[in-house]
Amino acid sequence: MTVIFSGVQPSGDAPTLGNYLGAFKQFAAFQAENDCIYCVVDQHAITVKQDPKLLKERVRRLAAIYLAVGIDPDKSILFIQSEVPAHAQAAWMLQCIVSVGELERMTQYKDKSDGKARVNAALLTYPPLMVADILLYNTNVVPVGDDQKQHIELTRDLAERFNKQYKNVLTVPEISTPKQGARIMSLQEPTRKMSKSDENKKATIFLTDTPAQITKKIKSAMTDSSGIISYDKENKPGVANLLTIYAAITGEKIADIVAKYDGKGYGAFKTDLAEIVVNELAPVQERYEQLLNSSELDDILDAGAAKANKIASKTLAKMEKAMGLGRR
Ligand code: AQP
Repeated sequence: MTVIFSGVQPSGDAPTLGNYLGAFKQFAAFQAENDCIYCVVDQHAITVKQDPKLLKERVRRLAAIYLAVGIDPDKSILFIQSEVPAHAQAAWMLQCIVSVGELERMTQYKDKSDGKARVNAALLTYPPLMVADILLYNTNVVPVGDDQKQHIELTRDLAERFNKQYKNVLTVPEISTPKQGARIMSLQEPTRKMSKSDENKKATIFLTDTPAQITKKIKSAMTDSSGIISYDKENKPGVANLLTIYAAITGEKIADIVAKYDGKGYGAFKTDLAEIVVNELAPVQERYEQLLNSSELDDILDAGAAKANKIASKTLAKMEKAMGLGRR
């Protein structure tokens, strides 16, 4: 069986429509025919300061979202990163084979450190932790959004480097990005990606937004003054982004959507899109509320951590042996 691994950070109040279309929607689909392992990567979230109490709540909420989008704990392993110590241990070993130059070239590091007087060291060194997350499970495929391409390339490079420098113990994974929705953009600045941590809350649709909030955000999404619906990422990034969301949810071709709204203006298009997004998220929201207030969630996470620890500690032991750490 192909092993699938992916993680999401509990770094905001709730995941975004970007996280959903770029990542979560793929996760459930993979379960039918693969061994799937999904993770709440809380150690990544602390690369920027978090309120401890709030972080705990966000971890729980994110785990509930995973289940609400269709992750079935009988088919997949769902766990919290910090409950599997092998991640941080393997990350240290991988930091020992990566160069500072490689880490400084990561675009997410450049974006998140840009203009800051003080930057945590972990903001630079977190990619090896992400590499460890993936490699510990002998992962074959990593379903992620477009923004993670560079990190997956680093994962492949470090796996190959470790295998060459020490012993052939790590599986080199492939990336999988969705055909539509691999990069959903901000509703207010459509040349930047939609992000949980965007300070402008109007720019982001959260999976827990109410129908009224979703509708308001879509109606006030940045477009242009032409009133013509066409797909032109360069000159009409706002409209292109809304068309992408429409296509990613409905599965319709962008050309067909453009033809359907020919001459109808942005108002009708946005009204329909808001309804499509609201209807897509309604069942996810309903299940999320049920799960959040149940003890089922803790049982699932306990079982997930036990299974993940078993697999990860085996790979860690092979890595340690290959590097000459310890006595065995
Ligand atoms: N805008 C997006 N479009 C499509 N996919 C996206 N992903 C993130 N943003 C978009 C995908 O969601 C998964 C989980 O991402 P993450 O939370 O681990 O980290 P991130 O990419 O840093 O997400 P955010 O929302 O931008 O969080 P913050 O603001 O905290 O940095 C990944 O598969 C990612 O590709």
